[in-house]
Amino acid sequence: MCNQPRQTVDVSTQANIDQVLTKHLHLNWNVDFENKNIHGSVRLNLVSLVDNVEKVILDTSYLDIKSVMYGKDSLKFDVAERYASLGSALTIQIPKIDKAGTNFQLKIDYETTENCTAVQFLTPEQTLGGKHPYLFSQSEPIHGRAMIPCQDSPSVKVTYSASVRSHLPVVMSALRTGIDEDPDQGTGFKTYHFKQETSIPSYLIAIAVGNLVGQDIGPRTTVWCEPEMIKQAAWEFSDTESFIATGEKLLTPYEWGRYDLLVLPPSFPYGGMENPCLTFVTPTLLAGDKSAVNVIAHEISHSWMGNLVTTNAWKHYWLNEGWTVFIERKILGRLYGERVRQFEALSGWRALQESVELFGKDSPKTVLNPDLRNGADPDDFFSKVPYGKTALELKHSFAELAHKKGFNFLYHIEKVVGGPEIFEPYMKAHVQRFASTSISTEDWKQFLFEYMEKTHGSSMMDKLNTIDWDAWINQPGMPPVDPGFDTSLADACIDLAKRWNQARDKEDLSEFSGKDIQDFTAGQKIVFLEKLTDVAPLPHRLIKKMDELYQFTPNHNADLRLRWHQVCLITSYEPMYPEVVKFITEQGRMKFVRPLYRLLHHAKNGSQLAVDTYLKHKSFYHPIAAQLIEKDIGLI
Ligand code: BES
Ligand code: ZN
Repeated sequence: MCNQPRQTVDVSTQANIDQVLTKHLHLNWNVDFENKNIHGSVRLNLVSLVDNVEKVILDTSYLDIKSVMYGKDSLKFDVAERYASLGSALTIQIPKIDKAGTNFQLKIDYETTENCTAVQFLTPEQTLGGKHPYLFSQSEPIHGRAMIPCQDSPSVKVTYSASVRSHLPVVMSALRTGIDEDPDQGTGFKTYHFKQETSIPSYLIAIAVGNLVGQDIGPRTTVWCEPEMIKQAAWEFSDTESFIATGEKLLTPYEWGRYDLLVLPPSFPYGGMENPCLTFVTPTLLAGDKSAVNVIAHEISHSWMGNLVTTNAWKHYWLNEGWTVFIERKILGRLYGERVRQFEALSGWRALQESVELFGKDSPKTVLNPDLRNGADPDDFFSKVPYGKTALELKHSFAELAHKKGFNFLYHIEKVVGGPEIFEPYMKAHVQRFASTSISTEDWKQFLFEYMEKTHGSSMMDKLNTIDWDAWINQPGMPPVDPGFDTSLADACIDLAKRWNQARDKEDLSEFSGKDIQDFTAGQKIVFLEKLTDVAPLPHRLIKKMDELYQFTPNHNADLRLRWHQVCLITSYEPMYPEVVKFITEQGRMKFVRPLYRLLHHAKNGSQLAVDTYLKHKSFYHPIAAQLIEKDIGLI
């Protein structure tokens, strides 16, 4: 049997999405903590797109397919060998469907296995409360196929419903419509019902099950988590409604009914994931001072950019993330001032410069619209970091680059067309035009031109034509124009970093005091520390003094802790090693653990410690994170 996937608009799926499309899917699941799997069925409502369809090909990854039913008939199916990172195509022979536009249903009985990367089953010890197991899913970009046999492509949008039987509370990326007790009382099991009536791509279908409690923090927002952290979570995220309301002012009315938050156990590998109706976030956002809530503004912005208007292939990933960062910063600018927005944008620009330097200005990894070849693993492409150098940071990955280059692209276009008065009405029109569809960079650009010409006439075309589109979209390296962000907030941190750098040979350090950073925001402290990772490793004497004066080690902001640990590891400051080990074993967010594992692995007397620490805590990490850490520290 030929393994080569067919060519469609999306090279990351093997499904025959050019012949049939899924319109709706219904999940009937049992969450089995004893066997650590989900078992049950999915019913797919499909429609043929062409005449004479004889088979349906779906994506799967390590799923155990038991049967495929077509009405009362059981159908023949074949699960192919795995193809590269795309998993195993499931080919189902169906009775021939003569005409395009015919609706039909398939019901597939299956269960997940321990290799399914989309689901992580946690033991009670891996949770905060320590008494109950936990399950959560993470499907972006192409792990949806490791939870559901489906057309796992962002170009396919479906509505879904679900009935999930479990002995612990269940939440999903959908609205809850009811809960049924088991008929024979006393089993402790309940069935939770959900529906998602706005069509979404498969990577946004998500579930979490655990000892969950909810607390309302806004008119359409409940925060869910284990009871031990509910109070802190409710406090930390209390600005959520103002972010949503600002998003609505900028774009269109919030579409999804509810915007709930789920704070996951510490092994959640990302900062946030924009699952519709229910954003998933890492507990490392609980800094105690709301200093990490930009992640919430970011995930809320995905409600429009990504979730309503979706990239149709991972090659156009920037359409999700660049647009989202752009809206996130508009929201932050509205609420906290333009200077804050400029500061964020400037940090992003400088990080982009570092990435381009690190990858090399001709590297394909610096192209906004990369050439994701057939079979390439988007996870790997997104998160591979160039090795060596000092600034061993996950921020230098393609995923991060797409966020930043994409933001700058939109920022530049906004300026060229005449600023927010012209651009903001266009953003709204863009969402209205493409809501509930999946698009490519070309679709996006075509509508931009159409809108601008129609609304502002041909003189606007002259303006748009001054933009070097090819350079922005297809060429590697830095963008063709430097936007020149305001440096006022950044200057103070950079000056202070310079002073410390120049003090490396001085006996007398009395010029420094705690007052230096007294008025700094968390973001400014981070920029200060980032500057120090750019210079030659600092003498240990300075590190010790700095911590005495600025009290970085006890700081609870995880982004700041990352930078501080990096500054210490770059100079192999061994007294900090126990703190680093503590930080990388108490949470598993890849942004923090991967660069620190890499640096520890490189630091003096750190290599064995990195390996030992990883091996001891291996089962704590999410499978996606574990795989990447193993590469980072040379185990595979
Ligand atoms: N959608 C992303 C997370 C993601 C990207 C998961 C690619 C899997 C593959 C999410 O919206 C995101 O960008 N999260 C960032 C935070 C944000 C403020 C930049 C993160 O997790 O750090
Ligand atoms: Zn995002």
